[in-house]
Amino acid sequence: MSPPLLNVNSIEVIYNHVILVLKGVSLQIPEGRIVALLGGNGAGKTTTLRAISNLLEGERGEVTKGTIELRGERIEKLTPAAMVERGVIQVMEGRHCFAHLTIEENLMTGAYTRRDGKASVAQTLEKVYAYFPRLKTRRGSQAAYTSGGEQQMCAIGRALMANPKMVLLDEPSMGLAPQIVEEVFEIVKDLNAKEGTTFLLAEQNTNMALRYADYGYIMESGRIVMDGEAKALRENEDVKEFYLGVGGGDRKSFKDVKSYKRRKRWLA
Ligand SMILES: Nc1ncnc2c1ncn2[C@@H]1O[C@H](COP(=O)(O)OP(=O)(O)O)[C@@H](O)[C@H]1O
Ligand SMILES: [Mg+2]
Repeated sequence: MSPPLLNVNSIEVIYNHVILVLKGVSLQIPEGRIVALLGGNGAGKTTTLRAISNLLEGERGEVTKGTIELRGERIEKLTPAAMVERGVIQVMEGRHCFAHLTIEENLMTGAYTRRDGKASVAQTLEKVYAYFPRLKTRRGSQAAYTSGGEQQMCAIGRALMANPKMVLLDEPSMGLAPQIVEEVFEIVKDLNAKEGTTFLLAEQNTNMALRYADYGYIMESGRIVMDGEAKALRENEDVKEFYLGVGGGDRKSFKDVKSYKRRKRWLA
């Protein structure tokens, strides 16, 4: 069997030399799949994504233990630009479009690492517009005056301009109406199916993410507490109770639940 596209092996991340945030996180991301990284606010999702795309340094964070491999190559010490060259790109939480630039100018900033000439960049732009017809309509509008959904699409579209193999999407649903979230996720699914782009999708919106992902990892306090095929997670009683808001009870800690420990053996 071929190794996964991305292999995160027991990483520990520390901020400011003292704040231990990730306590041995392992993930495997096979090529061409959509993998969801789930968990509440502060669980460590963004930190995991930053560790993969090497964006920790600017946050005074550091991978202090473990390894991250892309197709078998160790990548923990690479720069974010070197990751983009290898086809791995992160779409940051909160969308981050350049407010004063137009949608098209924003998209074009995503092509800065391309060395394959104007014609193929123009081709990619047309492809992005084909996936995101809304962006085409709004191509001349300043990003500041577009909707939250359009800005999220613009942020994803900009990442696509680099021709990535793998996109790390940080909470694309945040602050968007359910209908718009669905529209964004449908496009992600489409890109995955037609272009073979691999996605790692960090989400608090468990319900939505598990409808579109193939596989999911659930994080709590810097650890993975459960993982499995998306379908199995959707049907798991504890996941339903804690993350899908089905069934009663307070949302305590997932890992305190005895039945979780018992079931984990079954799922393993
Ligand atoms: N730059 C930083 N410096 C110090 N602590 C941080 C920094 N960024 C995040 N943290 C802490 O790391 C923990 C995990 O945060 P984060 O990875 O953003 O979680 P999530 O994305 O799941 O909400 C939180 O307790 C947060 O306060
Ligand atoms: Mg986050």
